Amino acid sequence: MKKIMALLLSVGMLLSFAACSQTRSLADIQKSGKLVMATNAEFEPFEYHDGNEIVGIDIDISEKIAEKLGVELEVLNLEFDALIPALQGGKADMIAAGMTADEDRKKNVDFSESYYNAAQVIIVTKDSPITGPADLAGKTVGVQQGTTGDKYCTNEDGESEYTVGEVKRYSKGMEAVSDLMAGRLDAVVIDSFPADKFVEKNSDTLQVLEEALTENEEYAIAVPKGNKELLDKINEVIREMKESGELEQIVNQY
Ligand code: ARG
Repeated sequence: MKKIMALLLSVGMLLSFAACSQTRSLADIQKSGKLVMATNAEFEPFEYHDGNEIVGIDIDISEKIAEKLGVELEVLNLEFDALIPALQGGKADMIAAGMTADEDRKKNVDFSESYYNAAQVIIVTKDSPITGPADLAGKTVGVQQGTTGDKYCTNEDGESEYTVGEVKRYSKGMEAVSDLMAGRLDAVVIDSFPADKFVEKNSDTLQVLEEALTENEEYAIAVPKGNKELLDKINEVIREMKESGELEQIVNQY
């Protein structure tokens, strides 16, 4: 019994050592000369492709953080639901992806101060009979896989106020919007600012409903659990950007 306990303990120590060694300290980041930020560039205006370049509000904020640390920014573009595993696996130092600091994710990552307040809204075609969240009952709704919109519509934990008929999950929000326009979906549930961008481009056929599905989703930057040194620096930058008005200026620019 003692032997088994000792074995279990050493395995546990090895595992936690492995987990720690995958997370880069502030000193490691500075020594390497680059800060690796993971994102999913399918989320205009927070991160999206402009030609070959990835641009957006989260990139601008991350550039500021890299600057503060005196290093270059490297952007790693992944599927949205691969972001937290990548962070935990040490492939990135932080996530900036319009990510809502929600309770489930807080079990796996630490979040910075919030830098943007969002909502989950409903996009429908202009001729849709759907006028609010209650009308989603029995309807087919598209979401981006692994997002809070997905969680809310899927309602596995039974916490959502509204029930939808069927949830279709897409790796890109844009694909859901295309399916909506092609008549394969009744609605798309997605974050407010990206929703405005999608509708802006198709304003003759699409609309965002006034009544949102959720309010008060706080976007924050995620770091590996326990990386307080890095988190403190990120928070410093966010606070400075809020106080100087630079954050607002960046958001308005998009
Ligand atoms: N705010 C939502 C969430 O945290 C959606 C974020 C999607 N971001 C992205 N870059 N695709 O789940």
